[in-house]
Amino acid sequence: MDNEDIEIKLILDAIKLKHGYDFTNYAYASMKRRIKKIMEDSRFKSVSEMLPLIIHDIDFFNLFLRNISVNVTEMFRDPQFFLSIRNTVIPYLRTYPFIKIWAAGVSTGEEIYSLAIILKEEGIGDNFVLYATDFNDSVLEIAQKGIYPASEMKLNTANYQNSGGKESFAKYFHADYNSVIFDSSLRKNIVFANHNLVTDGVFGEMNMIICRNVLIYFNRTLQDYVLELFSKSLRINGFLCLGTKESIEFSTSSSLYEPIDKITRIFKKKRDFVSLGNKDSGDKSSEDIDYKDKELEDIHYGAY
Ligand SMILES: C[S@@+](CC[C@H](N)C(=O)[O-])C[C@H]1O[C@@H](n2cnc3c(N)ncnc32)[C@H](O)[C@@H]1O
Repeated sequence: MDNEDIEIKLILDAIKLKHGYDFTNYAYASMKRRIKKIMEDSRFKSVSEMLPLIIHDIDFFNLFLRNISVNVTEMFRDPQFFLSIRNTVIPYLRTYPFIKIWAAGVSTGEEIYSLAIILKEEGIGDNFVLYATDFNDSVLEIAQKGIYPASEMKLNTANYQNSGGKESFAKYFHADYNSVIFDSSLRKNIVFANHNLVTDGVFGEMNMIICRNVLIYFNRTLQDYVLELFSKSLRINGFLCLGTKESIEFSTSSSLYEPIDKITRIFKKKRDFVSLGNKDSGDKSSEDIDYKDKELEDIHYGAY
């Protein structure tokens, strides 16, 4: 191990011990690249110079956290995927009296507004809840406000149209100087919550889980762990949606699913883990699971 790798290991250990974020099983090469970029941007000469600040300076740590994760996103990202949701998944989902969808790693929220717009246009009414989670509070804050740079709307409008949009996209927001503010009615059925895929538990009985362009930053061990978390959170006949460069084929969960759309990475869960036998890998107790679920229900129904 060279000196720089030792310094990076010390930084990651300090983050885990002091702040509880576990980056141990993130893909190492890109993690290293981003840590070095933060170091250079902050004009430090070595990675280890950041160590005391990570431990003692919460503002520096928050900045570090914001920059260590990649938050790039857009509305109707990969329009073909959202077209497939509209045409293939919604017809199944609309047969349920109530639909629960979990979008994990939503970043600044463009993905969740895209889903809310599709559900509205497809006439799902109010019979759904969208759980929008990320482990980074600063991006969730933006998501919750639904305010985005006006300069991004050209791309977002094109994406919306290519994803089968049925209206004029401008109908969903109003302009305010250089920003646009998305219609608050879109947020009515969205619960925004901090959730860390590495350290937090399952959400129960989801009809659909969408986690796109997140697993790509994890190593195989962590991808497998998170896919297991999703499998336990998804009801049978529920849908799992991944990013175009992400897959389940290598994972222990793969035999639970059948592909619905191989290109846009939509899978349908056919059976539960229990029927495979010994899948107990040290996940949270059922008490913890119930609590997390209850917490989210309470947020949704205004107990917080
Ligand atoms: C590239 S963005 C993807 C945004 C959106 N899903 C999309 O496809 O456009 C990755 C997001 O994953 C989040 N993330 C990374 N590690 C996470 C973790 N352990 N738990 C929850 N979210 C995480 C980051 O904060 C970031 O917002």
